[in-house]
Amino acid sequence: MAEYREVKTYDIPARLKGKGTGSHDRPKPHIDEATYKSNYQASITKIDEFWGKLGRETIDWDVPFKTVRHGGFEKGDVAWFPEGQLNASYNCVDRWAFRHPDKTAIIWEADEPGQGKEISYKELLAEVCQVANALTNMGVRKGDAVIVYLPMIPEAAVALLACARIGAVHSVVFAGFSADSLRDRAVDCDARVVITTDEGKRGGRTIATKSIVDAALKECPKVEHCLVVKRTGSDVPMQEGRDKWWHDAAAAERAYCSPVPVQSEDPLFILYTSGSTGKPKGVVHSTAGYLLGTALTVKHIFDVHENDRFACMADVGWITGHSYIVYGPLMNGVTTLIFESTPVYPTASRYWEVVAQHKLTQFYTAPTSIRLLRRLGEEHVKGHDLTSLRVIGTVGEPINPEAWDWYNENVGHGECAVVDTYWQTETGAHMISPFPGATKTKPGSATVPFWGVEPVLLDPQSGKLIEGNEVEGVLAIKQPWPSMARTIKGDHQRFLDVYLKPYPGYYFTGDGAARDKDGYIWIKGRVDDVCNVSGHRIGTAEIESALIQHPGVSESAVVGIADEVTGQAICAYVALKPSFSYDSHEALVKELVLQVRRNIGPFAAPKKILVVKDLPKTRSGKIMRRILRKVASNEADQLGDVSSLADPSVVDGIIEVWNKDQ
Ligand code: WT7
Repeated sequence: MAEYREVKTYDIPARLKGKGTGSHDRPKPHIDEATYKSNYQASITKIDEFWGKLGRETIDWDVPFKTVRHGGFEKGDVAWFPEGQLNASYNCVDRWAFRHPDKTAIIWEADEPGQGKEISYKELLAEVCQVANALTNMGVRKGDAVIVYLPMIPEAAVALLACARIGAVHSVVFAGFSADSLRDRAVDCDARVVITTDEGKRGGRTIATKSIVDAALKECPKVEHCLVVKRTGSDVPMQEGRDKWWHDAAAAERAYCSPVPVQSEDPLFILYTSGSTGKPKGVVHSTAGYLLGTALTVKHIFDVHENDRFACMADVGWITGHSYIVYGPLMNGVTTLIFESTPVYPTASRYWEVVAQHKLTQFYTAPTSIRLLRRLGEEHVKGHDLTSLRVIGTVGEPINPEAWDWYNENVGHGECAVVDTYWQTETGAHMISPFPGATKTKPGSATVPFWGVEPVLLDPQSGKLIEGNEVEGVLAIKQPWPSMARTIKGDHQRFLDVYLKPYPGYYFTGDGAARDKDGYIWIKGRVDDVCNVSGHRIGTAEIESALIQHPGVSESAVVGIADEVTGQAICAYVALKPSFSYDSHEALVKELVLQVRRNIGPFAAPKKILVVKDLPKTRSGKIMRRILRKVASNEADQLGDVSSLADPSVVDGIIEVWNKDQ
């Protein structure tokens, strides 16, 4: 049985009932308990009727759809609203710019407090149009890929929307990725243009984005242009004929550009994410289904109303930023915040200053930030007026009940809905989460499915459906839903193999989960070789292939270990080539860490590197990570059966190294 601890159940909180501290006019939640139930039932039984209605209501169509859905998991040919035509940027910008031109679309909270600005829908439309025209002038056409390598500035949202306006497919690469990673992604998606900044700013530090792009572009023959936003004004080299300043290129253009209608199933973007094997996967999202999923979850999981000021503190380089900074909030015509800094810059009160200053109504962050701020002490939260908030959310990894309670008490003051939202890059939008006005919450549980989502638990070995409550298994989804990924760029077979083949008839999430006595879902974490560090997904195979590129390394094996703040941390076991000699152990470990930073990016750096003589292998040569995980979790006394190892004595050597390192 699951190890979840059922601490308490929380009722619908005060502010969702129009009550609680503060004089704010609190809107009535869109969904109450009864409407959740009836909508959910309809969403999985009268599927076409349910989604057809929402598709028509939520999206402005250039050409209406006739068919609601087509295809299935068997062939991986899922299509939603296939005959429909629409434009994402029209739906996110124009319709609101015409209706309420002066309403703030984007609040930019710059790295240094006080240096941000607000951008209205009217201004957003003008800039999106100018950049769309500039991209067109660079030869970008419908279906072409554009790489976006930008820090958290408003131009990031503008860049995405400008691509969408002309039917181009954006692929954002998180600005913490190395030049090698950037190159691999640009090459994989055949990008013709890269958009970046001179430099980035974060937590008082400078990120050399342009020079990383320059290094990457040395090996990207297909990239013809680089559009450079001026962020710091630093003197960066500009390559004649290839590089253009964003402000020059945009200023030269007309501030209107007709949106190019695309088919519902045309790709809106590609976003690379890690898997358990091989190179990162370019997850491809459709236009209509994705927009519908993000629009509806912002409306219903965050209970967004017209005058809300919504803040997601993620980076636009991850799916959370795509869905909940850019597309979801703008599909609802509300105000969204772009945050350039960190939770602790210049002080650990930064988040709460931002909430108070902008009177934010929703606040969305990762459990890792909450754990960090909890450790730093509640004095940093106290004294800030957080009464504008109604819904506070988390995403990225399971939230431990202690962190949930701290968030609820110190940030929500027991009056806000706390939504622990479970989803993935591949799902596009929330899958399992409480509804603020409808769902009683339990700290640590993602609770109930969103509309159209049928979560099931399967026996990991037999694949058999596990029915009833108080059970545990691997988490799979029974029916296609509109915002699911459609394929992997250039490798549909891999898409089938990873998600649809492991348990035929289902979408496989890669997570383990439990269902409690009330039918609530508790996510237990990945069951594959994927680590989750600070809510960032990192494949162990990627780190291993970075390490092996060091001249001294003959083999490596990477496992995740529990970490109080980051959830998991990377622990790498490394075996050296017999011929390799080195002077200092410390210097070697530093070099190996640098190797990973350079190859993937700083966020993937191992916390621990253990240089061992040999790795534990089965007779057929397979590394037994289970043993490495046990040792790294200080559970060497519970190794279980090691008799299938080719050389069981290897384990003693590893334990010895581990003990010395402590
Ligand atoms: C993996 C997806 C979706 C945006 C952020 C990460 C884990 C995500 C939760 C949650 C428990 C969660 C899962 C999932 N995860 N949210 N609320 N509770 N686990 O996106 O990089 O695609 O990672 O993050 O393990 O499979 P991602």
